[in-house]
Amino acid sequence: MITPLKAVLVGCGSMSRAWTAAAKDIPYLELTGFVDVVEDAARQRAAEYGSPTAVVSADLENTLDRTRPDIVFDCTVPEAHMPVTLTALHYGCHVLGEKPMADSLENARRMVAAASEAGRLYAVIQNRRYDPNIRRLKAFLDSGEIGPITTVHSDFFIGAHFGGFRDRMEHVLLLDMAIHTFDAARLLTGADPVSVYCKEWNPPGSWYEHGASAVAVFEMTGGIVYTYRGSWCAEGLPTTWESEWRFIGRQGSARWPGDERMQAQVVTESGGFLSTVRDAIIPPLPPGAKTGGHAGIIREFVQCIQAGTQPETICSDNIKSLAMVFAAVESAETGLPVSVSV
Ligand SMILES: NC(=O)c1ccc[n+]([C@@H]2O[C@H](COP(=O)([O-])OP(=O)(O)OC[C@H]3O[C@@H](n4cnc5c(N)ncnc54)[C@H](O)[C@@H]3O)[C@@H](O)[C@H]2O)c1
Repeated sequence: MITPLKAVLVGCGSMSRAWTAAAKDIPYLELTGFVDVVEDAARQRAAEYGSPTAVVSADLENTLDRTRPDIVFDCTVPEAHMPVTLTALHYGCHVLGEKPMADSLENARRMVAAASEAGRLYAVIQNRRYDPNIRRLKAFLDSGEIGPITTVHSDFFIGAHFGGFRDRMEHVLLLDMAIHTFDAARLLTGADPVSVYCKEWNPPGSWYEHGASAVAVFEMTGGIVYTYRGSWCAEGLPTTWESEWRFIGRQGSARWPGDERMQAQVVTESGGFLSTVRDAIIPPLPPGAKTGGHAGIIREFVQCIQAGTQPETICSDNIKSLAMVFAAVESAETGLPVSVSV
């Protein structure tokens, strides 16, 4: 028998719309409360979800007292992620939160420790993992066709004119966007970060106040070198939001521009100045691969609670992606290589 679950959604801004849309299609899940410091925002999201009995409030604790949910979905701003998560865990709820986990690594550690003490699941949205193209590429890389991976390069160049808080944010590219790319690097290599050297700058003519461009060189476990080059103020010739990637293995290379196009070549004969290579066939997406973006992760999280298993983006593991961001920030600030520790 499947256990029906109740959830409260906290933070009813623009991103939360994707959560309510996903929740509507998940069987045995009911959103029973909507919380936002701006109560009108919570009211609007509750109306969209369509539950006339859901509690609408600006007070999380009061809502948890009244509804006693199994889950808290946290779509608040990064500074609120820690207080919301600690409160939810205190009430015995499982928590699925928006990225980034926290506004500092120290706060993220506290949240992971609190979840462990409470014996509850605490996971984070990493929606770019739940994309059919990245899953197809990962299956190909895991097949070993290009041999063990030694080197990975990713490029992210998009001249994004957001306006609003990002224009004034420090380390804007690293904190707000590179978390996705670094997390994808961990997924695709299956390796964890060891150390990083990062140079960050704000190019002349940038419409951001700080750090719109960065270059980082990571050492990963297994001796893999992973490089990141990125900018949010590069006009023209944009990459995809997933970045453009090159993977070098012992027997060949793969290239992925971040969408459905991907190619690989493997060595058929070596010994000459240049080896002879052939195009490799990259099989289609394997059946049962995890996809669906936000909806895919939310569904997996609910199923894990019901089955007593762990979701892929459990924070005790995904904190390593956040640690890459904060180590890169520290390196950029100090000008020195930094060990990545969680
Ligand atoms: N996964 C993605 O691709 C993706 C994309 C965009 C944003 N995000 C993340 O989603 C989160 C929310 O972003 P957004 O664009 O929806 O921002 P937003 O500003 O539109 O919404 C945030 C909402 O949280 C509310 N809020 C703030 N503090 C609160 C608190 N303590 N208690 C209750 N409500 C509180 C605000 O009033 C606001 O309505 C951020 O962490 C952001 O980084 C993720």
